Amino acid sequence: MVDDEGVPLYAVRDGKVDQGTYNGYRRYASSCHVCHGPDGLGSSFAPSLVDSLKQMDYWKFTDVVTNGRTNMGATGDKVMPTFGSDPNVMLHLADIYRYLKARSDDKVGRGRPERFKAPS
Ligand code: HEC
Repeated sequence: MVDDEGVPLYAVRDGKVDQGTYNGYRRYASSCHVCHGPDGLGSSFAPSLVDSLKQMDYWKFTDVVTNGRTNMGATGDKVMPTFGSDPNVMLHLADIYRYLKARSDDKVGRGRPERFKAPS
């Protein structure tokens, strides 16, 4: 699901998430966790995306993940890689956003979320 502007939406029912948000959790774990830490909470190497998404909108998020970013800090270069040509990320970017946004909104806890069954 997306809203009128095309921003991906997540759904949470009784603490369980929709399939897209669950997929986002799995994709986050395989592509982003190594730098951004468990459950989006950040590490000494890369910022907490749970915090970032309190300010950052979907379009900015998409831009940074697609194009990467380099921050020449005093303590050395911190590099957010460019994922624009990585289908494992680009095909699932909306779901990764859904998961992180749900975490950021405090709607999903830490660890692997449970899925609810879609109505048939
Ligand atoms: C190799 C380590 C690494 C991986 C893997 C990585 N990132 Fe990053 N990311 C960083 C670093 C370091 C920064 C901070 C860059 C800076 O300070 O400009 C960053 C910044 C970001 C930001 C901007 C945060 C802000 O508050 O401005 C977003 C959004 C982001 N990453 C999303 C992702 C997503 C989504 C994935 C997985 C698809 C991912 N990153 C994978 C290292 C990584």
